[in-house]
Amino acid sequence: MTLSLSGVSRAFGGVRAVDDATFTVADGEVHGLIGPNGAGKTTLLNLISGLLQPTDGTIELDGRRIDRLPPHRIAALGISRTYQNIRLFAGLSAADNVVVGQHLRRHAPFWRRLLLLPAARREERAAREAAEAGLARVGLRERARLQAFSLSYGEQRRVEIARALASQPRLLVLDEPTAGMNPGEAASVGRLVREVAKEGRAVLLIEHNVRLVMELCDRITVLNFGKVIARGTPQEIGKDPAVVAAYLGDGT
Ligand SMILES: Nc1ncnc2c1ncn2[C@@H]1O[C@H](COP(=O)(O)OP(=O)(O)O)[C@@H](O)[C@H]1O
Ligand SMILES: [Mg+2]
Repeated sequence: MTLSLSGVSRAFGGVRAVDDATFTVADGEVHGLIGPNGAGKTTLLNLISGLLQPTDGTIELDGRRIDRLPPHRIAALGISRTYQNIRLFAGLSAADNVVVGQHLRRHAPFWRRLLLLPAARREERAAREAAEAGLARVGLRERARLQAFSLSYGEQRRVEIARALASQPRLLVLDEPTAGMNPGEAASVGRLVREVAKEGRAVLLIEHNVRLVMELCDRITVLNFGKVIARGTPQEIGKDPAVVAAYLGDGT
C-alpha cells in the first residue's frame, strides 16, 4: 500500500486550507501529521478520506487515483479513519458501534441480514464477537455493552479506533486520537498504533502530544498555513529551525 499526495490543494473561499501538499505514506509506517491549529491537518485527512475533494492535485492509492471517489468507495479500498469530533451513535452500545464499522467486510446483503436468514445470523454473531475482540484490544472489554454516550471521552475515542480497525484497513487515519485522554490512556493508544503498524498497516496520525509523536512516528510531515514546511524522521523534524519556529517553539 502506498498513499501518495501530489500537489494537493483545497481552498475555502479565499483561504488555502491545504496548499500544494506532497508526501507519501507506506505500509507499516506510522506517519505523523503535525502543525499549529488551523494548519490544514483535518482538511488534509478529509481530502484523503473523500469527505472533501481537492481543488488541485492528485491523491493516489497504489497508483490509482482516489481523489474523485466518494468516501464509501475510498473506505472499501482500505482507508478507515477516526474523527477529531467523535462520531459515534450515542444511543448504541460500544459493540454495536464497532459492528457498524465491519459492514464493509461483511458479505450477507442487507436484505438477508434483515430477514435474519441463518447465514446472515451466523455472520451477525461473528460480527459481534469480532467487535468484542476489537474492543478488548483497545482495553474496553468490560465496556462493550454500554451505550456510547455513557463512556468517558477517552473511551469514546478508543471505540472509534476499534471501529476503524474493524474493517481491517490497510491505512488507518487518526485525527487527534489522544485528545481528552489521560497520560496512561494516551500511552496505550501509542502502543496500539505501533502494533497496528507491525501488522503491516500504515497509520497516518494527527497528534498534538509532541512527545508521543516523536516516540511513535517513523516519519513526520509538518504543515503550517496549509503548506508542508518540513518532512523527515522525528530527529530531523526536532532540529528543523522552521518547525521549531512554527510549532515546537510556541509552547504547545
Ligand atoms: N468547511 C470549511 N469551510 C471553510 N473553512 C474551513 C473549513 N474547514 C476548514 N476551514 C479552514 O481551513 C483552515 C484549516 O483548518 P483545519 O484543516 O481544521 O486545520 P487543523 O486541523 O490543522 O487545525 C482553517 O483556516 C479553517 O478555518
Ligand atoms: Mg484539526
